Amino acid sequence: MALKFDFSNLFEPNISGGLREEDLESAKEKVIEAIKNFTENTPDFARLDRNWIDSVKELEEWVVNFDTVVVLGIGGSGLGNLALHYSLRPLNWNEMSREERNGYARVFVVDNVDPDLMASVLDRIDLKTTLFNVISKSGSTAEVMANYSIARGILEANGLDPKEHILITTDPEKGFLRKVVKEEGFRSLEVPPGVGGRFSVLTPVGLFSAMAEGIDIEELHDGARDAFERCKKEDLFENPAAMIALTHYLYLKRGKSISVMMAYSNRMTYLVDWYRQLWAESLGKRYNLKGEEVFTGQTPVKAIGATDQHSQIQLYNEGPNDKVITFLRLENFDREIIIPDTGREELKYLARKRLSELLLAEQTGTEEALRKNDRPNMKVIFDRLTSYNVGQFFAYYEAATAFMGYLLEINPFDQPGVELGKKITFALMGREGYEYEIKDRTKKVVIE
Ligand code: PA5
Repeated sequence: MALKFDFSNLFEPNISGGLREEDLESAKEKVIEAIKNFTENTPDFARLDRNWIDSVKELEEWVVNFDTVVVLGIGGSGLGNLALHYSLRPLNWNEMSREERNGYARVFVVDNVDPDLMASVLDRIDLKTTLFNVISKSGSTAEVMANYSIARGILEANGLDPKEHILITTDPEKGFLRKVVKEEGFRSLEVPPGVGGRFSVLTPVGLFSAMAEGIDIEELHDGARDAFERCKKEDLFENPAAMIALTHYLYLKRGKSISVMMAYSNRMTYLVDWYRQLWAESLGKRYNLKGEEVFTGQTPVKAIGATDQHSQIQLYNEGPNDKVITFLRLENFDREIIIPDTGREELKYLARKRLSELLLAEQTGTEEALRKNDRPNMKVIFDRLTSYNVGQFFAYYEAATAFMGYLLEINPFDQPGVELGKKITFALMGREGYEYEIKDRTKKVVIE
């Protein structure tokens, strides 16, 4: 079944000060232009090239030899894998026996250079049955290069052939990793050159580890394909991605500079992280397409229900009215637990109820409280966590991000603001060709 979108609580009279249908008119022409542009010049991420699945499936026979896949990637080369793993496998997948996993692999994602994280993964794997998938589109990201070197070094130190335990996923032509593939003969997958990291989850970047852990990657593409088709509809009330973009754009113009995504499902945690990167890195821009300084963007914030009701909701209800809140609501959970009857009168309201019933009631309660406080909110409803639905979710939000970029007149596909920090790090690590000296920081306020 398809995802459902409920935009009602973004509008008057459900919340006072909310959008009215007439408000949509002000930017409607622009969003229709964006839709036409999407239809006529479909971005590469929405092409869903059949070869993305086929190239991954060619490695199926090889991957069944491994009990564990460790993804080494960061940003757009790691978050999609995490989102797929957590949303489409049970939360305890990596602790299950191979038999319980029907022979499919455990998947760990190391998306940082935190030695405690890397060591904790290395402690839990048997190198002989582990495949490292090194993912970097540029083929040069320092964090990934460091983790690749560690994996390679440890394989060699244990007398194992790195070429039999490392898969490289990178640009088809450019970068250091492609050079390694060409010179040393590693198995490899291609990151399509026209697809940016944070838009690449439906390419081999996300598909390989998903296949290795038994996720139906055909169904993932089917869901995404159907969603992208819907993103071509010019009627806004038929096009969820355009409606997300337009409503968020109008609210941003009204000073709602924060976009909270609050998932009522622990398995959706990394779907929210994935969204957070997509919205932040794509839309947070200093310059518009004309080169004028605009300092635009909408800060994405992650929240998990019901946990964050006891952390964030006070602020969302009574603090500054500067947020648009999106709930992710899951109607049917894969597991269920019935709350026992303890015999105590005080707990009778819980007795013999499904645990999910409480969670769903909490979502409805929070939504209604926000509405009563005139806080704009919307809802994405998943009937179940299936590959089809998760594929749809990725597609709708990728298209919404492209539409939002069009409305803001910025380039959503670059990330110049990430570069300076990277260059300074290279300089600090002594990389040839990079120099940086902190000179203009003359004031010192340090408490020891
Ligand atoms: O979305 C992006 O482009 C970034 O987040 C990249 O994915 C991230 O910086 C990692 O880059 P690379 O895949 O080149 O290692």
